[in-house]
Amino acid sequence: MAAKMPAFPGGVPLADLDFHPAIHEALHDASWISPHEPHPAGPGNRPAYWLRSSFTWTPDNGKATVHATAHGIYELFINGSRVGDEELTPGFTSYRKRLQFQEWEITGFLVSGLNEVTALLSDGWFRGRHGFERRADGFGTETAFLASVTTPAGVLIATNGDWQSRESHITRADLMDGQAVDFRRWPLSLEEHTTPDGWLPVVPCLGGLYENRDRLVRPLAPPVRRIEELPPVSVTVPSPGVTVVDFGQNINGWVRLVKLGPEGHLTTLRHGEVLDSSGLVSTENIRAFDFATKTPLAAGQIDTVISAGRPGDVFEPRHTTHGFRYVQVEGAAGPLSPTDITAVVVHTALRRTGTFECSDPRLNALHDAIVWSFRGNACDVPTDCPQRERSGFAGDWQVFADTAALMYDVSGFSAKWLQDLAADQWADGRVPTVVPNPAGDRPSGNVFEDLATGSAGWGDAAVFVPWSLWRAYGDKEALSRSFPSMRAWVDYAAGAASANRHPDRASFRPDPLPHEQYLWDTGFHFGEWLEPDTPPNPDPARDHGIVATAYLHRSARLLAQAAAVLGEHDTAARYDALAGKARDAWRAEYLDGAGRLNEESQGHYVRALAFGFVPDELAPRTASRLVELIRLNGTRLGTGFLATGLLLPTLAEHGHLDVAYELLLSTGTPSWLGMLDAGATTMWEWWDGVTGSGARGSLNHYSKGAVGSFLYTHLAGIRLPANPRESESAYRTVTIAPQPGGGITSVSAAVETPQGRLSAAWTAERGKFALHVEIPLGVTATVELPDGSLRPAPAGTHDFVIGRL
Ligand code: BGC
Repeated sequence: MAAKMPAFPGGVPLADLDFHPAIHEALHDASWISPHEPHPAGPGNRPAYWLRSSFTWTPDNGKATVHATAHGIYELFINGSRVGDEELTPGFTSYRKRLQFQEWEITGFLVSGLNEVTALLSDGWFRGRHGFERRADGFGTETAFLASVTTPAGVLIATNGDWQSRESHITRADLMDGQAVDFRRWPLSLEEHTTPDGWLPVVPCLGGLYENRDRLVRPLAPPVRRIEELPPVSVTVPSPGVTVVDFGQNINGWVRLVKLGPEGHLTTLRHGEVLDSSGLVSTENIRAFDFATKTPLAAGQIDTVISAGRPGDVFEPRHTTHGFRYVQVEGAAGPLSPTDITAVVVHTALRRTGTFECSDPRLNALHDAIVWSFRGNACDVPTDCPQRERSGFAGDWQVFADTAALMYDVSGFSAKWLQDLAADQWADGRVPTVVPNPAGDRPSGNVFEDLATGSAGWGDAAVFVPWSLWRAYGDKEALSRSFPSMRAWVDYAAGAASANRHPDRASFRPDPLPHEQYLWDTGFHFGEWLEPDTPPNPDPARDHGIVATAYLHRSARLLAQAAAVLGEHDTAARYDALAGKARDAWRAEYLDGAGRLNEESQGHYVRALAFGFVPDELAPRTASRLVELIRLNGTRLGTGFLATGLLLPTLAEHGHLDVAYELLLSTGTPSWLGMLDAGATTMWEWWDGVTGSGARGSLNHYSKGAVGSFLYTHLAGIRLPANPRESESAYRTVTIAPQPGGGITSVSAAVETPQGRLSAAWTAERGKFALHVEIPLGVTATVELPDGSLRPAPAGTHDFVIGRL
């Protein structure tokens, strides 16, 4: 019986830059095949399958290349040796429209004569669990594989109905639930390799999606790899038979275990971020719940291994990843020494570009924690957290993309995700909350998910992220590729603003004022989300107009700027006018003549100033009121997801650098250093993620780490123009404007920019401020010293000294 899959036609048109004709030729003779799996097990309990075939090659055939991809996750082996070091291939994309393929030269793996090709295929993101509700089968109900081996002379072998499959030693594999391995079933014996026993014919996959080869794309981003290994920092035995290993760092990845015991011995590994009061791993904080029934869901992240009793076997579960710092080993085969177990850090192999160090070790630790949070959430897609939903939440990347671009080269990583965003955008321009989205470019049928699609601040990733990429990397083609998606989002938001009025507004003001058509006060919005002491309130009836209209203005403005860069001047003028109308509507509705807002929160004030809603003459008063709110709050920040990254720059730019430093260096809850004091090694989702009564929410969410950019832009002073023209993007024009404070006596930061290495280092001691900068060729830099003086800095190194600050 052939597996069938429905076709799934598009919404917003996709640029086809990564569509690759060569792959179509290489895979022309290949057909999709599924393992023989008449009765698939339930989600989380499905094995990985071997798929195999053989082919003849002789040196006369020349160089051999394999092209492969899958619905699921696959590893490829030639004659039993693993090909490549990429993990979780083919990666996570909006599979219905974009499916990455891998390409490896395999000549070195071949022997003259008969060669065996095998693939190990598991559920992955395609069929495995994913998202808050841990739903499986998001993209389809069967896994499948497509590959060919070609030489310059033609195809040596391609997937077809002659291939065979069998269950592998991976008896269950799921990205969320974990992986189980039975080493007694591995490796296959010579007999198992050479006889058909135990092998069953694969199922050819026909129709619909399987016929769509246009979705095969060459990866834009670096692959996921094993990046680093961490030894345990402690190994304890809190109760008999239970060993707890602390790796000292919250990571995304897995553990490698080399002590597996005698044949048949079972070891269980439970991964989590915290310990309970008895020293056992607790996963209570990362348990989600079913939206409809509110039933708590299991946290997953449990691996098991059954030993074959062979020395040399190594357990390393490559068909899952976990977010964890601790592993609880149940039934360890004897006492574990630190060399028996190692944490393997797994994420996209991004190039590190930014470094930061200063005289205050607490800020260095904060910077490290932010870097680790990003590393923990850069597993092929930018995720919210590596343990609970593991989804590409648009709002989270919207707020963090600028910070990430200072620390790593995220050009391909972000561009890839933006292609998926465009692929998943609904036909009306709405952006799903998570990208890639299992439901694709249309409603999923899940009431909350569908309702939440199109939230301000989340959907605005469609505009903010391409603009962030443009500023950092200056890739005009990437900007133009994103442009239709940017415009579709802004059109959606503008349409939603003009089409509806919030019932509360309609009742106190029955006749709408003209500006209201630009007021986006209806529809579901997450709002500022997770401010301190504010539980999540996803109430669709809430009026979030003050947030949503702010984003409508901002995205329209950025879209206009993007249009200007792309030479579309009429379009630029149109969206500039829209931005102006939305700004005026926001002012009319929320700002009074004394610079005060009629809905007060730190987040609203931050946006008012950062997005340019406050006329210059009122800005000092608005900024003073923001400071007043901070003081009234005990000099504590009060922002959530959206405004936290903007808070300190906004204070600094409106004459309150001292308050910015007070907040940056404050401790207790809520604060960044308070997280570190409570043992955080990554940023938390909630400001009070860990309290005396335990942990709540994810402890590895980078969104609040958006403060990281302040370390580069204000402490070190490395600043990109907010709205670069073509000649100014990609660091071609920069300002170096360090703003010392907070008792910090030295700062040193560097960024590998597209133009070369740019650095700024200063000391402020005994009344003397000394700045050293390094400006790469092709960069026009202006140095703004803390006394306000401006100095040009051409390419080269420069030193500036000023007296008492
Ligand atoms: C996720 C976030 C996300 C938020 C709002 C949470 O469950 O973890 O990071 O942005 O929901 O959608």
